[in-house]
This record gives sequence, C-alpha cells and structure tokens, in this order.
Amino acid sequence: MRLQKILAFSVLAGALSAQQVTPPGAQPAPVNTQPTGEKLAPYYPTPETIVERMLELGELKSGEKMFDLGSGDGRIVIMAARKYHADATGVELDPDLVQSSAAKIKQLGLQKTAHIIHGDILKQNYSSANLITVYLLPESNIKVRPVLDATLKKGARIVAHDFEIGGWTPIKTVTIPDDGEGRSHTLFLYIH
Ligand SMILES: C[S@@+](CC[C@H](N)C(=O)[O-])C[C@H]1O[C@@H](n2cnc3c(N)ncnc32)[C@H](O)[C@@H]1O
Repeated sequence: MRLQKILAFSVLAGALSAQQVTPPGAQPAPVNTQPTGEKLAPYYPTPETIVERMLELGELKSGEKMFDLGSGDGRIVIMAARKYHADATGVELDPDLVQSSAAKIKQLGLQKTAHIIHGDILKQNYSSANLITVYLLPESNIKVRPVLDATLKKGARIVAHDFEIGGWTPIKTVTIPDDGEGRSHTLFLYIH
C-alpha cells in the first residue's frame, strides 16, 4: 500500500507538473532572485476534503500560527487562514506556485493572515509554529525531521499526509478510505 501510494504520487505529480500552473498574466520572478534548494517532492495537491481533515486533526485554532511545508497552490494555507482564522504561512520553492498562491491570497483579501515564503523548507525557522502540515515523500520527511527537531517548540503539532515522519511515533493515525474520488489517505498526528 505504501509503495502504491508513492508510485501514484509520482505518476500523478508528473502529469500535474506538465500542466500550466502560472495564472494568465503572471510574470516569472527574475532569475537572480530564485532561492535554491533540493526538490523534496513533486507538486501533487491534497484534495480539499483532506485539507480540512488535516487541519481538524491538528486542532488548528483561531490566531494560532501554522506552516505548510511545500505549500503548492496554497490551498492548506488559504483554508487555515480563511476557515480557521489562523496565521498561516506556506514555504514553497517553485516560483510559479509561489506566484499563483500569492495571487489567490490577494484575490481573497487574506494578505494579513496568509503568507507564502519563496524559499527552501530546510532553511526556515519554525519556532513560532503551533501546527505544521506536510505532504512530502518518506525520504524527504526524514530530511525535514532534524529541522523541526531543532526549531519547533514543545507541544507543537505536526500533521503528515500519507507518509510518516520516520523516527517519530504518531500519537494518532487516521485512515480515510475514500476521498470521494476513490483515493484513500492516511494522516499522522505528532506532538513535539
Ligand atoms: C506534494 S506537494 C504538496 C502541496 C501542498 N502542501 C498540498 O498538500 O496540497 C509538495 C510541494 O513541495 C514543494 N517543494 C519541494 N521541495 C521543496 C523545498 N525544498 N522547499 C520548498 N518547497 C518544496 C513542491 O514544489 C510542491 O509544491
């Protein structure tokens, strides 16, 4: 099942990356301002229904600070700010995704509570976080773990989608057999 998920993730992410993600009219950022970093996973978005389940599992509360590590089109950050009234930040390496998610945040008038950092997940400080969400590959979660260990405060919650954070023990695991489109999902909750 785990291998199937990794294969499905890679195949579908490949198909998605071939699609246009830059909104019409958006300009690519100048080349010399691009942050560098290792690509820890391809873009493969979490379905909206599962985003909600992740934020529920993480018990996100109004005013809390959350980070989505590899924020893609910003859907987790946007729901965290819009529905849960959290202070939400996404970290994303891909300039097109940064631009399209920032444009969506602006369009929704969420600039005060939703932010996208154009940068590398492995180079951020998460010490202010109450909740971290992550949807990366298993080997990437292992690379992210020391950064979280080094910066997270005690009691911070982490919700991982589909792939565990190796070396940590989840306090709760939730399986969603069908997201409405025939795909199963597993969510892991950790407390730092
Ligand atoms: C599987 S997608 C998840 C997107 C979003 N979190 C969601 O669940 O819908 C992983 C994202 O991580 C981004 N990413 C990969 N490596 C990264 C890195 N080193 N720093 C920042 N973002 C990265 C990818 O560009 C991609 O958008």
